[in-house]
Amino acid sequence: MTADLLPAAPVSIWQPVHLGTDEMGQGVHVTLAERNMLVGGEPGSGKSVALQLAVAHGALSPDCRLVLVDGKQVELGLWRGCAERFVGGSDKRSGKSVLDDAIDTLRWLQDEIDDRLDWLLDHRMRKITPDLHWPVFLIAVDEIAYFSATIGTSVAQKEFSALNRDIVARGRAPGIIPVEATQRPSADIIPTSLRDLFGYRWAFRCSTEASSDTILGHGWASKGYTAEDIDPQSRGVSWLRAEDGIPRRVKAAYLSDDDIIALADVAAAMRAQQPATSSTGKVIALREGDAA
Ligand SMILES: Nc1ncnc2c1ncn2[C@@H]1O[C@H](COP(=O)(O)OP(=O)(O)O)[C@@H](O)[C@H]1O
Ligand SMILES: [Mg+2]
Repeated sequence: MTADLLPAAPVSIWQPVHLGTDEMGQGVHVTLAERNMLVGGEPGSGKSVALQLAVAHGALSPDCRLVLVDGKQVELGLWRGCAERFVGGSDKRSGKSVLDDAIDTLRWLQDEIDDRLDWLLDHRMRKITPDLHWPVFLIAVDEIAYFSATIGTSVAQKEFSALNRDIVARGRAPGIIPVEATQRPSADIIPTSLRDLFGYRWAFRCSTEASSDTILGHGWASKGYTAEDIDPQSRGVSWLRAEDGIPRRVKAAYLSDDDIIALADVAAAMRAQQPATSSTGKVIALREGDAA
């Protein structure tokens, strides 16, 4: 896949992201700007690979900043050199609480959302547009459950979930794209009120129809769209509910570790040549300075 992607670099986060192929062998591309996506499925079904596809596109987009929150610590780690913020690693190794680090990171993103929304309001705009030249933030969270139900205290877990909910709820207009994965987005892992905020759903193999419905949305299994029907051997096969709202059978594209390392090196080199424009404040100051 590297060979397919490299000639296209750099890309833009406003362009559709290549996610895989449909049953007719046609490429499946989805625009992530102004969207958010929930990825679910049983262990080994292909969720982390799916996240990598979005992260790869974001990494190769000079107009995108990456925020990576990785409960498994190793899935998104190869992109660390391209990321604005990376949350992962064990408490033991970093000497600090990974959950606290995740909470700090979400707070920082929440501040960015507040600043951007204030600016948009002041300028009588409802959402960002590419001509503003603000970087879009893509926040990828792998294994939500690690932060919302596994490590730390229940108070901290709740805080993580509340912040995450706010970012998913308010992030679209100011250019924050959450793409988040969990095995089963049941209410004990993510509050139903958060789950329902995700516009795009991507279901990999599930062991029951009920699990599939928690990912794709209530009632899809009874209409014949269930990730329970995916052969456990068929990793990467999935149902994707995106732009037209109807689930579509998709074989996700695959990036090997070598592909990821090659792409991440290209992306990191590209980023090293860019001025730091991570904070809206700086971008806005520059823009207003230009205009003055
Ligand atoms: N789209 C895909 N094409 C080919 N193989 C895949 C694909 N997705 C996953 N796999 C295989 O399945 C393994 C597990 O995938 P992974 O994304 O780590 O699962 P999960 O995150 O759901 O536990 C991968 O290491 C890879 O070998
Ligand atoms: Mg995984």
